[in-house]
Amino acid sequence: MTRMRVLHFSDVHVEDGFEGVRWWRFLNKRLIGLANQRLRRGASFARAAEKVRALGDFAEALGADVTLGTGDFTVLGTPPELRYARDVVSGVAAAPLGLVVVPGNHDLYIEPSAGEASFAEVFDDLLRTDLPELAVDGPWPFVRLFGAHLAIVGVNSARPNPQIARSSGRIPDAQLEALPRVLSDPRVRTRFVLVATHYAPRLWDGSPDRRLHGLENADGLLAACAPLEHGAIVHGHVHRPYRVRVPNTRLPLFCAGSSTQEGRGAVWVYDIDAPDRATATRGQWTGERYELQPETREALFA
Ligand SMILES: [Fe+2]
Ligand SMILES: [Fe+2]
Repeated sequence: MTRMRVLHFSDVHVEDGFEGVRWWRFLNKRLIGLANQRLRRGASFARAAEKVRALGDFAEALGADVTLGTGDFTVLGTPPELRYARDVVSGVAAAPLGLVVVPGNHDLYIEPSAGEASFAEVFDDLLRTDLPELAVDGPWPFVRLFGAHLAIVGVNSARPNPQIARSSGRIPDAQLEALPRVLSDPRVRTRFVLVATHYAPRLWDGSPDRRLHGLENADGLLAACAPLEHGAIVHGHVHRPYRVRVPNTRLPLFCAGSSTQEGRGAVWVYDIDAPDRATATRGQWTGERYELQPETREALFA
């Protein structure tokens, strides 16, 4: 029996110092103010980079085969910050089968100017698909096949939000339309499938997120997962960890919250032994390191 162990983290929000960065001057001050206010910069995420490095140690100690980051690696998504974040995740990317990523809205906060690096460019080596014939929008939806029983399918739900008060997401129609076909493919459907995206299709109580903060086509995503017997929808964006089941889909939803925010610091560990045999266990930042909480382990299928 070959077990696959996945370490899922999200919303680490590392920020570069910006000092001496030419880009900084070009940014909209109101945007900066809003991002800072949202993240309560300085307090909540002061140790973010240190914690991400500790996550790499945790992944190694756990024997995680693959790591999964569901977006919001940065605060403002500037090219220097993206490069800094890519460097900081090197430890988690050193897992034997690597790091799988989807971008969050903060990683695409602003449209890159001509010649400036975007998330897709800086994280290019991590955005791959094993089934390119199923992709319709660059690598999206991407499919990664791990061992005999696990697939991770990524859809992008993040986009730049030029409107200051809006931080909602939307999966591009082409990706959402392609998803049922991807998930029905016999190379995918017969496995345990983690459907990974940044935005939360539902909150902890099963209700939809607010219009200006949530996923516009959440119902479409839940409906598109109908071909799957076994798997989970895994995401971030909401900075509070939870798992919830909703009537719209057989798959449980797992939100990693923010893995680095002070007072939060959650991660999920998924162990997949067979397509229909998998467990989820919470992990938590203790102040010095991440630790697994074995008492939280639960089977995903009765
Ligand atoms: Fe976030
Ligand atoms: Fe987000």
